[in-house]
Formats: sequence, C-alpha cells, structure tokens
Amino acid sequence: VGTLSGKVVLVTGASSGFGLGVAEALLARGAKVHAAARRLEPMRGLEAKGARLHAMDVTDDASVSEGVAQILAEDGRIDAVFNNAGYGAYGAIEAVAIDEVRRQFEVNLFGAGRVMQAVLPAMRAQGSGLIVNTASVVAHVPMPMLGWYAASKHALRAMSDAARLEVAPLGIRIVLIEPGAVKTGFDTVALDALDKTAHPAEYHALRKAFRNAMEGFYRNAPGPEATVAAVIAAMESEAPPRRYRTTADARWLPRVRALIGERLFDRLMMRVLK
Ligand SMILES: NC(=O)c1ccc[n+]([C@@H]2O[C@H](COP(=O)([O-])OP(=O)(O)OC[C@H]3O[C@@H](n4cnc5c(N)ncnc54)[C@H](OP(=O)(O)O)[C@@H]3O)[C@@H](O)[C@H]2O)c1
Repeated sequence: VGTLSGKVVLVTGASSGFGLGVAEALLARGAKVHAAARRLEPMRGLEAKGARLHAMDVTDDASVSEGVAQILAEDGRIDAVFNNAGYGAYGAIEAVAIDEVRRQFEVNLFGAGRVMQAVLPAMRAQGSGLIVNTASVVAHVPMPMLGWYAASKHALRAMSDAARLEVAPLGIRIVLIEPGAVKTGFDTVALDALDKTAHPAEYHALRKAFRNAMEGFYRNAPGPEATVAAVIAAMESEAPPRRYRTTADARWLPRVRALIGERLFDRLMMRVLK
C-alpha cells in the first residue's frame, strides 16, 4: 500500500485489542479508517478521531456486504483490510457443543472469508489491495483445551495461503499475522468460555492445569504494540512477507517443536499441564 495517508482501510474487530490499536495507528497516519465491530460504543473514540463506524457482525452476510457497499459508495475504493474479528471457544474437543463449534468457525473462518469475498471484487477492479488475516501460533502448534479454536485458525491459515497464490497475479496481497499470547480482551473471552463449558470429570484436572498455565502466560504476555506495528508495517510495505510472527512465543514454539519432534513436544506440553 505504501504511505498510508489517504488510504481507505477496513478494520474488523475494531472495538477492542489488535483491531482498536491498528485503527488508532492508521488514523495517526492519516488513513481513511472504516472501523467495524458488533459493538459501536467502544469505537466512539475512533469516531472522534475521524473514523467511520460500521455495526458489523462478520457472521451475517447482509451486515458484511452492506458495510462494504457503504465504504465503496463513500470512498470509491478499498486499499487494505485488517481482517481480525475473532474469539476463542476454549474447552476440550469432547465438551464444546457442536453449535458453539459452528459459531467458532462462523466467526474465525467463514467471517474472515465472507469479508474477503465482499472486498475482492473491488480490489480486482482496482488491480491492487492488501488483506491482512489474523491467525495465531496455535495454527502451527497443538495444545489441549483449545483444539476447536486452533482448528479454526489452521483452516484460516490454509485458506489464506491458497488465496495468496490466487490473487497475487491480480495485484492483490494476502498477509498472515500469527501472534502468540497477547494481553487484549481475548483471554477473558476464551477463559470465560472454558469455565462455562461443562466437562466430564475426567477432564477436570487438565482443565484446571490449562487454566492456570494460560493465566500465567497472559499475566506475563506483552501488550498489542508489536502486533499492531506488524500490521502497519505490512500495510506500508511494497512487498510484505507472507507472515508476521509478532511475539517471542509465536517464534520459538513452532521452532522448538520442529527441532525436538512431535513426541517429545507432546510430552513437554503435558508435563507443563500437570
Ligand atoms: N490476544 C491474543 O492472545 C491472540 C493471539 C493470537 C491470535 N489472536 C486473534 O487476534 C484477533 C483479535 O483478537 P484480540 O486479541 O484483539 O481480542 P479482543 O480484544 O477480544 O477483540 C476481538 C474483536 O473481535 C470482534 N468480534 C468478535 N466476534 C465478532 C463478530 N461475530 N463480528 C464482528 N466482530 C466480532 C470483537 O468486537 P465485538 O465484540 O464488538 O463484535 C472485538 O473487537 C482474533 O482473531 C484472535 O483470535 C489473538
């Protein structure tokens, strides 16, 4: 995208965490920001700084297509999208109800895909555009008690990697952001889901150990600054890399697993969760 001044950018999940931070950083650089989330109130500060707000639920076809149509009607183009809305439906594979699993995929995978399908026609017509999708380190590394969330991010990674090859010849770039644990609103939502999901007694010890480990990770986790900076760097770059691993754990966990092998990694993981 190059210099961001005057560029038209859609940010989903702009009411909290990475999305809110990226929207603020874009406004500071003079971009025309379209901030989207289900809740409008937490985005009033962005509006005061010049953002256009969209009440958008990424699980709803009409909500997404109307939002994108409004952007095109107002600004005539979309230069970049931070495709970021998402949450963690934590719990054991056996315990998370299939309806909740569907909702997980509806937001994290189909929601991101729905936004891509809505903006790609305009980007094709322009012959340019950038889409930054938000995966996670758990798209590479397995962990118990967050398997359905990890599955949604694995799927998002696969879908993004395929789309990247399809649209590159059209002048459109797709980039993946892969953070590890970062202090945003994410851990509260994910651990709440874990607590509210009824588990058979056989899982109680693992659930408790996992919860303690997560609380520890998040207590020591960095804030969203490095991840926000990576999204901005991708948007300012003429030739961004395929993926940005934005935290130390996102860089070392996949490397350690590749180095020591799955067997030993699984044992270490379960020792941490004893
Ligand atoms: N923080 C981490 O540790 C971490 C690590 C790796 C990846 N990620 C990913 O980073 C992304 C952003 O998360 P975050 O850490 O910034 O968490 P967050 O502070 O909880 O923000 C999540 C955002 O997603 C929006 N959202 C959720 N469901 C939505 C829906 N159905 N339609 C539209 N918007 C929806 C929320 O807005 P409303 O509720 O107002 O709609 C909120 O703005 C997510 O995809 C998450 O999976 C986070």
